[in-house]
Amino acid sequence: MATPKSIKIFDTTLRDGEQSPGASMNLNEKLEVAQALIDLGVDIIEAGFPIASPGDFEAVREIATTMKGATICGLARCNNKDIDRAWEALKHSEDPRIHVFLATSAIHREFKLQMTREQIIAKAIEGVQHAVGYCDDVEFSPEDAARTEIDFLCEVVEKAIDAGATTVNIPDTVGYATPAHMASHIRALVDRVPNIDKAIISIHCHNDLGLAVANSLAAVQEGAGQIECTINGIGERAGNTALEEIVMAMKTRNDFYNYTTNINSNRLVPTSRLVSTVTGIQVQRNKAIVGRNAFAHEAGIHQDGMLKEPSTYEIMRPEDVGFAKTDLVLGKHSGRAALADRAKQLGYRLTGEQLQDVFTAFKELADKKKEVYDGDISALIENKVYGEIEDIWSLVEFDLSTKSNSPPTIKLTLKKNNEEMTCEQNDGDGPIDAAFLATEKLTGIALACKEFQVRSATIGRDAQGEVIVRVEHEGEEFKGRGVSINTVEATIIAVLNAVNRIEITKQLRANAE
Ligand code: KIV
Ligand code: ZN
Repeated sequence: MATPKSIKIFDTTLRDGEQSPGASMNLNEKLEVAQALIDLGVDIIEAGFPIASPGDFEAVREIATTMKGATICGLARCNNKDIDRAWEALKHSEDPRIHVFLATSAIHREFKLQMTREQIIAKAIEGVQHAVGYCDDVEFSPEDAARTEIDFLCEVVEKAIDAGATTVNIPDTVGYATPAHMASHIRALVDRVPNIDKAIISIHCHNDLGLAVANSLAAVQEGAGQIECTINGIGERAGNTALEEIVMAMKTRNDFYNYTTNINSNRLVPTSRLVSTVTGIQVQRNKAIVGRNAFAHEAGIHQDGMLKEPSTYEIMRPEDVGFAKTDLVLGKHSGRAALADRAKQLGYRLTGEQLQDVFTAFKELADKKKEVYDGDISALIENKVYGEIEDIWSLVEFDLSTKSNSPPTIKLTLKKNNEEMTCEQNDGDGPIDAAFLATEKLTGIALACKEFQVRSATIGRDAQGEVIVRVEHEGEEFKGRGVSINTVEATIIAVLNAVNRIEITKQLRANAE
């Protein structure tokens, strides 16, 4: 077989992924994800859209300044103001890229931009040239390329390359393409754009028809050398190409696709868990590669085959994508070294201080629960370490009584800056509502609950409950997460986590004024 072609993996979890409804991340969370992406081996990280908000600018600037080991990219519309702002955020990176986009399809030209084809070409050239004035590595995207007339697309791409674009990305912005459509678009670019060899063709697919991974594969087969994707496939509407799926498709079927990537596939599950935790977007159980059921065999005939020879029903090994080999049980006599070893096996990289925090929480849990499973350890680590935010408000204790046919009563004590305060609440439609009402009363922060999810971290009736809430405060949405063996306690912790995010946002805004 000929030497495999190396395909660049461009991750846009922090930009397109963050555009998923409810997926916004704070600066710390973005830095954690960026570091995880570097450990995973992605080639390019699209860190954000600097002109979109001060928070986006700050995140791109911080990632560009501190992260090494991948190209750091910032998005800009095709105008000088956006491009200047993107460069301001990127300029300290060792390896920066400016990504400029401009819509090209007839629908966008007529209804969104009210521009002629000639005006689009002129603006694309001007934007790319302006970006090239700052940096050698410039990507150009004709937005809605999949619905752009192919002659015009070829012309725009040729002019963008002439102007200095080193990567030309072909977005299927609305997820309209099919594999045959995408293949014919890329083939046309390869055959008809005379200077196409001066740039890398990239592919950027959305998943509205569930075809993003298939369309990306079709593009690569026709000559694309870069794939844009996100962890867990998060992104606008139905999301983007899922990084874990496209990478494992090429790796597992390398008998057919002679491609390689720089991805360390055993980091896929830990990275997926991190992104799920910090965004609050859970991964569906049957999600390919990283879902909880992705390697679970239920049917007896399958289990029998697996015992005789795993390859009868398994096309990948769970450990190749980062699932731990066995679900070892720890208990109250397990020491720090055993916990550290298990955390490592599960793919977490903890500092000494983080391990100490997790160990303290582990000991408390092991006192309440005889057997501590991998799922418990993951929940503890994710709760203690990922997206850590200052505990402005914290739970001291609560006393809840609940009966059928009468409202619950709750006595709640919270702490703010070492000052404890208590309130009693005798109404509420059930214990969860009572917990929300008492928290609102003490913190003075009004919360509309938009989403409330509970799930068990492991098997068994003594499993820890993981609660994720999304609340609205003054028109903005905030997420919160809590874990405890007591589901009401997990709820209060999750609500307080959201309240702390609201308080921190308010403080940051006040400081910026
Ligand atoms: O989907 C899209 O068109 C985009 C571009 C900005 C690349 O995300
Ligand atoms: Zn997109």
